[in-house]
Amino acid sequence: MGARRKFVAGNWKMHGMAGSLSELQLIAAAADASKSVDVALCVPSTLIARAADAAPTLPIGAQDCHQAEHGAHTGCVSAAMLAEVGARLTIVGHSERRQDQQESNADIKAKAEAAHAAGLSVILCCGETEAQRDAGQAIARVTAQIAESMPDDASADWLTIAYEPIWAIGTGRVPQTSDVAEMHGAIRVKLRDLIGEEADAMRILYGGSMNGGNAAELLAVSDVDGGLVGGASLSADKFVPIIEAAASAS
Ligand code: 13P
Repeated sequence: MGARRKFVAGNWKMHGMAGSLSELQLIAAAADASKSVDVALCVPSTLIARAADAAPTLPIGAQDCHQAEHGAHTGCVSAAMLAEVGARLTIVGHSERRQDQQESNADIKAKAEAAHAAGLSVILCCGETEAQRDAGQAIARVTAQIAESMPDDASADWLTIAYEPIWAIGTGRVPQTSDVAEMHGAIRVKLRDLIGEEADAMRILYGGSMNGGNAAELLAVSDVDGGLVGGASLSADKFVPIIEAAASAS
């Protein structure tokens, strides 16, 4: 064990215009310097091509893709289109899309399969609401999301799980480390059920109000293999300390 490299991915959500590329280059420089950690940045699709040009060593990702290769889907973008402009990965199943776009587990599974078919790596998100946690259903809900949305042939070389408790996203609240350990351990067990030994190589990221102040503690939790970072990934001065914390935890 211990073979899983830490992975820190930023999710810029609907933030970032051309003026943000200088920040992205600072992040890329820190990522280059920290050789023991994998780093990626998922930017708005409008920025992917320029981001990939501006920081060729930093894997640039999308935040969603459509499950179809092409077709009459106004406003949508396929995985192959994202790959063509320089994306190397995509997030699927983020809770904001599950809520705002009513994406189902079946949709998310199809998106992950489409992304893989187009050569993209995938960060598959899962996470419970506060009401589900309060009702004692967090582990059941999250493991069911994974069972229903992860492709059957998923493997660690192209798919990463991100556990993001919805109530911790953008709120400044983080779960107790014991709750994070319990959840990540339960996810590992579910992954073993689903994909056997491959589960031990698959990375499970924590996301939700991760910042330079709490990253070291979260990244030291057993089965936490990195972070998916929203707000604190928007600037190098906030994101680089998280990359450094991951390097120290490696
Ligand atoms: P914050 O880090 O802003 O809480 O966002 C987490 C997230 O949703 C990353 O996908």
